[in-house]
Parts: sequence; structure tokens; C-alpha cells
Amino acid sequence: MKLNALKGFKDILPGEVELWQELEEFSRSLFAQYNFTEIRVPLLEETALFSRAIGDVTDIVEKEMYTFADKQQTLRPEGTASIIRAVIENGLLVKKPVQRLFTIGPMFRHERPQKGRLRQFHQLDMEVLGSKSPLIDVELMSLAALFFKALDIDVSLEINSLGCKKCRPAYREELLDFISSHKEHLCGDCQRRSTTNPLRTLDCKTPSCRKQIADAPSVQDWLCEECSSHFITVQEGLRQLGINFTLNKFMVRGLDYYNRTTFEFLTDDLGAQAAVAAGGRYDGLVELLGGAKNTPGIGFAIGMERIILLLLQKDEYTLTRGVDFFLAGLGKAGNAKAFELAWQLRQEGFSVALDYEGRSLKAQMKLADRENAYFSVIIGEDELAGGYGLLRNMKNKDAEQRKIPLTLESFLDLTEELPGE
Ligand code: HAM
Repeated sequence: MKLNALKGFKDILPGEVELWQELEEFSRSLFAQYNFTEIRVPLLEETALFSRAIGDVTDIVEKEMYTFADKQQTLRPEGTASIIRAVIENGLLVKKPVQRLFTIGPMFRHERPQKGRLRQFHQLDMEVLGSKSPLIDVELMSLAALFFKALDIDVSLEINSLGCKKCRPAYREELLDFISSHKEHLCGDCQRRSTTNPLRTLDCKTPSCRKQIADAPSVQDWLCEECSSHFITVQEGLRQLGINFTLNKFMVRGLDYYNRTTFEFLTDDLGAQAAVAAGGRYDGLVELLGGAKNTPGIGFAIGMERIILLLLQKDEYTLTRGVDFFLAGLGKAGNAKAFELAWQLRQEGFSVALDYEGRSLKAQMKLADRENAYFSVIIGEDELAGGYGLLRNMKNKDAEQRKIPLTLESFLDLTEELPGE
């Protein structure tokens, strides 16, 4: 029987994993520039954490969670709820009143797989807990904008405000009226949810629903004074930093915890899966999950698979990172010398590959190419007798092969010639 990876679960193989490493490295340094620190939370949590945070009447909770029903535990479909649980459980907000945290890792949702949509996918997730300033909203969007600019990825930013528990009920009533007069044309999901979670209808991707809700009332017209002023300050802040955006009254997001600002960064280059980063404010969530009253919060997540796809669509990425030296030992003594030299070079921080299968010189040179070695060093019996090896620059086939004494010092002298990280 052939054993394959599960549908929607993907191996990240050598050749591509280097790009993931680069992306993670770049992200970490960007997050540090914005004064975020890392938090690592478990992959498995109590199911109630997600159903309470994300909302019972959402696609994620109704259809997509990987749940061990007998244990009432669920593989995390997102990072926000887990981070908040960890912050509350460990009293982090007591130690420092504003927490700026990020996490990087896999999330699990049982969705229909397609390009850019997996069942195990990875997010770069950022959360700021403890500040209600609209400038934090702007700062997070500026971080995302800088992320995409640095990676040369074209995106557009859409924003909305979902109001708060003061102003949303009136809007909800208005929307309910609108939906009930259009109900018979809506899809089954929207009909079922129309009374329990009418906002979901605004987000429905079914073409018939989209047509029906085109004239739906806009939440932006129902904002209370505080929400309105928050939203205006967010827009002013984005303009101040020169970050372009458009208003999208239909953006309610697929998770129920949001209030006030929501936002999505979209690309035209990935087909249906256009959202490359998304998030928003969730001022009631900490309290809902058992934390202190009135603790504001906001965050967003970047979908890593989608970023990798976009980067791979560019030509300039060569993925395989090579080794500094390939040591080609020949004969018993040559191989023994290569083995010992590899140990010495690795202790000095060089990367080294060598052959253990007694291959011919020609086969070893082929291997050196495949390992993307910068230098190869041939250590045959004649060379060994003279105390040197033959150094070849594998990246410049015109360069002369030259003798190199088999001493650590002479290898250290080559450091300058090697490409930097
Ligand atoms: P989300 O919109 O569900 O939000 O996901 C954020 C991003 O993760 C999406 O824009 C997309 O790039 C990526 N993503 C989501 N599902 C998949 C999938 N099945 N396959 C590949 N990529 C996917 C959240 O998860 C919120 N927790 C974000 C947030 C953080 N809000 C506040 N803080």
C-alpha cells in the first residue's frame, strides 16, 4: 500500500525550505524593528477556546476544525485565541500593560484544498494587547505594508469598521430587515444564519448572495461617535504614512471576535485566494476569554504559503543554498584526510559536504555541483604526499585550479572569497 501525505497537507522539501527559512528570518527581523517579541503556544487546545473566541456560527467552528471529539480538544485553526489564552493564564498583562507578541507556525482548517489554500497552513501572526489607540491599528497595517514592500509583492489594502457593542445592535437590526426581504434568494448557509449571525451574509462568496447584498446597508453609516472618530483617525494615520487603502463595507471577516477596524491585504496574482494578510481589532475578546475587563486588542496574520507562492512566481529566487566546501577524498588516506578536515572546518563555521561511498573523482565532482558547493578540494594520494589539495572554484569554471596547503590557516584565508550569508 502506498502511503501519501493527507490531502491539503504538504511537505516542504529541500529546495523550497530555504525560502521558508529566509522568509522567517526576514519576518523576525522586521517584527523586532517594531518591538514585537515571540510567543510559542501549543498546537492543541480545548475546543471551547476556539468556539468561544471565533464564534459558534462561523465556517471555521461549524465545519473546519480538526477536533478530537472524545477529548474535546482541537488543533488550532488560528493563533489569536491561543495567544490570548496564554497571556491571561500567565498574567502577562499584569507584568507589562501592553503586550506586543508574534508567533510563527502551522494552523489547521478542514477546507477544500486549492492553490493557496491548505488544511495545514502557516501564519505569521501578530497581536497587540492592552492598547485602544487607533495609531496601533495604523502601525500594524504599516508593518504589513513594509513587509510586502520589502518583498516586492504588489498588494492592495481594504479596510472597514465593524463598530462596537454599542452601535452594532442597531446596524444588525437594519441588516436583518434588509436580509429578510431578500431571504429567498440567499444560499442555504446564509438563510440558516440570517437570524443568528446576519453579518456573515455580507461576507458570503456565493455569487447569488453577493448580488443580493450589493445594496445592503453599510455598517460605516451606523458607527457611534467613538467608533466613527476611531475609524477617521485610522484613515488619517494611513494617509499620513502614505499607505493607500480603499473602504470595503462588506468586509466582516470570517471570525466573530472583531469590532471596529478590520483590514485585508489582497493580491491579484493568486487567483481565488486573494487575501495574503488579514486581521482587525477585537476589544472584547480578552474579557470574553476570562481576562480583565475592557482589555483592548488588535492583530493580524499573514498566510505564509501564499507569500511563498508569490515569491516563487518571481524569477530571481535561486533556492538551493550551497556548501562552502566539497572535500573530494580519493583512496583510503585521501578520504581519511577529508573526514578530519571536514571536522576542523565545521568547527570554524564553514559548511562542508563530502562523499562516504568511495565514488570516483568524476562522480564526486558531479556531487559537488549538486550540493551547490562554492569550492571543491581534491585530496588524492599524490596531493596528500605533497601536503596540499587541489582547490577549484565551482562557480567560476574559468578560474585556475590551484594548490592549497591542507592546513586550517590556508582555508581560513579563503573566507574573504566565499559569498556572505
Ligand atoms: P484569517 O483571515 O482566517 O485570520 O487568516 C489570515 C490569513 O491566513 C489569510 O489572509 C490567509 O492569507 C491565511 N490563510 C487562512 N486560511 C488559509 C488556508 N486554509 N490556507 C492557506 N492560507 C490560509 C485569522 O486567522 C486571524 N487569526 C488573524 C488575526 C490575528 N486577527 C487578529 N489577529
